[in-house]
Amino acid sequence: MTRLAEQGVSELAGLAREEGAQDARDFFRNEPGRVDALTIRAAGITADFSKQSVSQTCLEALVRFADASGIDEAIANLASGAPVNVTEQRAASHMALRGAGRDESGKAAARSELDRAMRFANALRAGEISGVTGKPLRNILHIGIGGSDLGPRLIAKALGEAGSPVRARFLASPDPDAFAHAVRDFDPAETLVFVVSKSFGTAETKANGAAAREWLEAGLGTKDVSAHLAAASAAPDKAAAFGVPGERVFEMWDWVGGRYSLWSAVSMTVMAVLGEAAFRALLQGAAAMDDHFTASRLDRNMPVVMALAAYWNRVFLGRQSAGLVPYATRLSLLPAWLQQLSMESLGKRTGLAGDEIGGDTGAIIWGAEGPNGQHAFFQLLHQGSTIVPVDIIAVREANGDPVRHRMMLTNALGQAEALLSGRSFETASAELAARSVDPDEIRRLAPHLVMPGGRPTNFLMLDRLDPYCVGGLLALYEHSVFVQSVLFGINAFDQYGVELGKTLASTLERELETGASGIHDPSTMRLLGRVRGDND
Ligand code: F6P
Repeated sequence: MTRLAEQGVSELAGLAREEGAQDARDFFRNEPGRVDALTIRAAGITADFSKQSVSQTCLEALVRFADASGIDEAIANLASGAPVNVTEQRAASHMALRGAGRDESGKAAARSELDRAMRFANALRAGEISGVTGKPLRNILHIGIGGSDLGPRLIAKALGEAGSPVRARFLASPDPDAFAHAVRDFDPAETLVFVVSKSFGTAETKANGAAAREWLEAGLGTKDVSAHLAAASAAPDKAAAFGVPGERVFEMWDWVGGRYSLWSAVSMTVMAVLGEAAFRALLQGAAAMDDHFTASRLDRNMPVVMALAAYWNRVFLGRQSAGLVPYATRLSLLPAWLQQLSMESLGKRTGLAGDEIGGDTGAIIWGAEGPNGQHAFFQLLHQGSTIVPVDIIAVREANGDPVRHRMMLTNALGQAEALLSGRSFETASAELAARSVDPDEIRRLAPHLVMPGGRPTNFLMLDRLDPYCVGGLLALYEHSVFVQSVLFGINAFDQYGVELGKTLASTLERELETGASGIHDPSTMRLLGRVRGDND
């Protein structure tokens, strides 16, 4: 950390001591222009950060800290395709996938591969790709996990329409039930198996790929099922060894992280389901957010301000988790997608130079669709002893019945207002008195009705639930996570933490297969014995 950044941290620590007990209600009283100052528009999204527990003085200090942490240079490096993934010595050029940023060679490679995948998807939509029986392939079984699954699955759910000529199912878990469910009414003769794996070595994806091959072979009565296979991978030789014809292997590159890859041929399934115009509009929305991110000054930069609020909440106010609550069923997979994006990127304790950070880094991300969440975990958000900053996402324009849509909007607004305003003991008592409740009963009941309020939210309003706005929304989160990584001083683009469990799982698998017994902790030994039936 530079001297200036260290000064920034102590300035922020001082502000946390002075203002940490205050919340947006106090700041609204003292800052007449607060809503305007903390509302930012970009890529079809209006973001209102004014309900955060961040004063404008504090925001200025956070901006100074970001400046001292080299945020401008970091953004420029990200956009130009410099090797910002320092542990793996790679770029993280996801902006190039949507034609933004300044990585010209990345953009050219991305464009040509996108066009190739799009031609294939268009041909599938037109019924021009047939399987071994001559029937057109109109079903896609999309096999992948983590970044090779969550993004495409989310977009397909968010933007898919009934009546698409192509039906898609997503398969991630190797649980046999998941496979059976995914292919439940698919005819192998009409099904394309699209295996998405950057490494083409992920155990779950390999197992599901093998199961899909067997399913095709059994259903089609032939071993030559290559007409039913396609893949997206950075290991084309492995995809070829699996039997995918070369012209159907779409390229991924080591300069795009798996969780940032949804903008590429990884989403061929989505291209086929939504059509070319919709997928290109998704990329345009993301590119509009990229342009805003790379060109706006820090205090008017949506991803930067969002990241600064997240950093303040985590490091200086000690908020351990952050909620994400979309008021749109079509966005119900957003929390799962953000969990991987944020927790795989920021769930680290080692700094860029190999030093232990010592402080807090990424928050625990969780959430669910708004109306359902209101009848489940919102009780804790309103009255629990833990304060959870929440992103509330709403959609302005109705996509169907305007009356029920208005209900979605008013619930989103009402919950954000209740989280902020709360209800005092006096108000609760007055409300009970207005209902002619007996004074003794008021004294007994009122404490239970008190809601402290001051609970911070970001309110993100999409103009409409269309590809452009959804593209902008996902890019917003990508950039916010990146900015947080710069503030924490960690690398957002590796994920060594998930390796050890994978290695141990394959060791255990070998032991179960061969009957060998290795050395494990006593609990694992006992459980392994239970799997083997030793205790039966
Ligand atoms: O969970 C670890 C991880 O490496 C993710 O980062 C990645 O998205 C996922 O596994 C799948 O990897 P692959 O695309 O190589 O199969």
